[in-house]
Amino acid sequence: MCYLSRIKAVLGLGRLFHQTRSLMWFFAFFIIVFNTFPANTFPVGPSPTSQPFHLSLLNLIPAANAATGVNGVSRSDWLLPKVAPSPENNKMDKKKAELGKMLFFDPRLSGDGRTSCATCHDPALGWSDGLTTATGHNGIRLPRATLSIVNVGFNKILMWDGRNIQLEEQAIEPIFNPVEMNNTEQNLLKTLRSIPGYVKAFKEAYWGLGVSSNRVARSLAMYQRQVVSVNSPFAKWIRGNESAMTESQKRGFEVFIDTNRGNCITCHRPPNFMDNGFHNIGLLSFKNKKPDLGRFSQKKVNMTKGAFRTPTLWNIAETAPYFHDGSAKNLRQVLNHYISGGKTRTNLSPNMKVLRLKPEEQKDLIAFLNALTGEIDQKLTQFTLPR
Ligand code: HEC
Ligand code: HEC
Repeated sequence: MCYLSRIKAVLGLGRLFHQTRSLMWFFAFFIIVFNTFPANTFPVGPSPTSQPFHLSLLNLIPAANAATGVNGVSRSDWLLPKVAPSPENNKMDKKKAELGKMLFFDPRLSGDGRTSCATCHDPALGWSDGLTTATGHNGIRLPRATLSIVNVGFNKILMWDGRNIQLEEQAIEPIFNPVEMNNTEQNLLKTLRSIPGYVKAFKEAYWGLGVSSNRVARSLAMYQRQVVSVNSPFAKWIRGNESAMTESQKRGFEVFIDTNRGNCITCHRPPNFMDNGFHNIGLLSFKNKKPDLGRFSQKKVNMTKGAFRTPTLWNIAETAPYFHDGSAKNLRQVLNHYISGGKTRTNLSPNMKVLRLKPEEQKDLIAFLNALTGEIDQKLTQFTLPR
């Protein structure tokens, strides 16, 4: 026995070390288990409770050292890594992600060879489409607006109604959806297998294995996890560059996080400006004869009628029009909606309230939203389609 272990043994430290390690494993296990719970079990309602339990647990950490933070939110809570975290069964890998990039931009994935993911998630339009609601296969008008995929890898629940929770699971859906890319699995595989460049790329990325729809989905998911907004004025400011934001933008941030003024922070939480929760924010379209019931289509609880998942606000200035129904043409109209406290009262979220903001505060808040526009790595849009 060496000296150190003898001393440790004498002091009983070995045992203590052992116990701390077990404790760490216990917590790790706990977090993993709660992470795998279906996210659609979230209650809808006031934000802190609309977070899954494990998240509220983790949030205690920043809140505890946020001595200088407002409302339990400190600047560092908004820090995001340059690539979104990947699940254990689809770890980030350069070749797989490169393959995902080609697939993302390739219209040959669709039934008629004319629509790619990028048709609707266009990098030049904030990775969305600039439309009120999406246009699908054969020009069909889809009922909801296209969500941007910027920072999508940080979301724990996907789509306006939360019907998917994993990018791997979501990626394949539009390809086979008759109103989107209208392809069949058989035809997709036939097409990709007939392109030698793809056969080679799949083999190289997946240990000699060929084309499969599961691998298409994995690569698409991996590619999308890299689409992360970096170097926005706000991102630079939270990293400590005081002059990155204008004075007006800094004041706008204060309005944003002040529950007595903007109250935006209640639902648009750090770090991705969303809470993985669903809220009915009282849009006018909920008064329609047959309104879009949103979350209710997935989870038949009355409270979820007209509730939609909170979207991220990173790069928000690039993705007008806004809301799931595209009813706000610009950020000014978004703000006017929130100031009104919601135009339809039925089933309205208890967190929506009439805002009393001075004209200056309104200007500042919009200036702040504009400070969230960052860059996306240019390499993510440079590609050549395989032949
Ligand atoms: C015809 C237009 C269209 C095409 C093509 C399309 N999407 Fe979408 N996408 C949408 C719309 C509309 C939504 C929101 C739908 C909803 O929530 O009901 C969406 C949502 C998403 C989301 C969820 C974003 C979030 O924040 O939850 C992801 C991820 C996504 N699409 C990826 C893809 C991928 C990958 C492809 C190609 C395989 C693709 N999309 C093809 C229109 C399209
Ligand atoms: C009660 C929760 C809640 C509060 C409070 C809230 N939001 Fe939202 N926000 C949402 C939800 C949910 C949506 C999507 C609603 C829909 O389309 O039906 C949304 C959508 C948005 C959008 C449009 C995003 C897009 O991609 O279309 C913007 C911009 C926005 N909010 C900004 C703000 C600002 C600024 C404030 C504060 C003045 C605020 N929000 C307060 C929950 C909230």
